[in-house]
Amino acid sequence: MANLPSSSTRIIPDIARVPRHVAIIMDGNGRWAKQRFLPRVMGHQRGVEALREVVKSCRELGVEYLTVFAFSSENWRRPADEVSFLMTLFLKMLEREVAKLHENDIRLKIIGDRSRFDDKLKQAMQHAEHLTVNNTGLVLTIAANYGGRWDVMHAVQAMLREHPQLAQGFAEEDLSPYLSMSDAPEPDLFIRTGGEQRISNFMLWQLAYTELYFTDVLWPAFGRKELDTAIDSYQKRERRFGRTSEQLPGNQLLDRQGKANA
Ligand code: IPE
Ligand code: IPE
Ligand code: MG
Repeated sequence: MANLPSSSTRIIPDIARVPRHVAIIMDGNGRWAKQRFLPRVMGHQRGVEALREVVKSCRELGVEYLTVFAFSSENWRRPADEVSFLMTLFLKMLEREVAKLHENDIRLKIIGDRSRFDDKLKQAMQHAEHLTVNNTGLVLTIAANYGGRWDVMHAVQAMLREHPQLAQGFAEEDLSPYLSMSDAPEPDLFIRTGGEQRISNFMLWQLAYTELYFTDVLWPAFGRKELDTAIDSYQKRERRFGRTSEQLPGNQLLDRQGKANA
C-alpha cells in the first residue's frame, strides 16, 4: 500500500542518530507524591509539567514523533476518585495547553478507545486534533484508554468490516493501516520511568524492534537531562533487526556512524 511507513519486520528501516519516534510510559506519579507525603493525584498534576518539558526537549532535539501513555485500558481499575481526577486533569490539560501546542507547530493526536469518555472530553479531544491537524513540528500522540491488545483487535475488526474476504487469510500489510499509529514510523526508543520493567499493554505491535530503556526516575522528576541520558543509551545500541553484527553497514555503532542504511 502506498505511503505507509515501513514495517520493521518486512523492511529494515533507516536509522537516524536522534530517534525519530520516542514512546514513553510515564510511570511513578503516585510514588513521587507519596514520597512527599502528598496525595497521589498531586503526582499526576506534576506529571503534566514533566510532559511539557519533555515535549519541548523533543522539539528541540528534532524528534518527529512523541507518543506517551497517559491512561491504560486497565487504569479504570483504580479508585473512582483517582480515575475521575485523571479525567478532569486530561480535560483541563486539553483546554489549557492546546493553544500553546498549536503556537509551537505541534500536532496533537489521541489514540485509544474513546467510547468510555464523557462527551465534554470527547469534544475537547476532537477540537485539539482538528486545530493542530496541519502542524508539522512534532506529532505528540497521547494514548488514553489505550491497550495494545485493544489496538490489534480493533484493527482486525475494522479491516474485516471493510474487506470481509480477508477472513480467509491476510498479510501484515493488510492489517497495518488499521492499527493506531499507522501513519508514523515504529518507535525507535521506548522509555519507561518509575522503575518497573514491563510493557503494561502499551503498543504491543509497534514495539516489535524498539530499543527499550528503563529508569528508576519517577515521571514528575523526569526532564531534559534524563531524556538526554536515555538518548545516549539509545545511540550506543546496535540495531540489528534480525541480522548479524557483521552484516551491518561498516559494522559500526550508531554513535560513530551517524546513519546506518539497510
Ligand atoms: C502513572 O503513574 C500515571 C498513570 C498511570 C495515570 P502512577 O499513578 O502509576 O504512579 P505509581 O506507579 O503508582 O507510582
Ligand atoms: C502504565 O502504568 C500506564 C500508564 C503510565 C498510563 P501503570 O502504573 O498503570 O502500570 P502497572 O499497573 O504498574 O503495570
Ligand atoms: Mg504506576
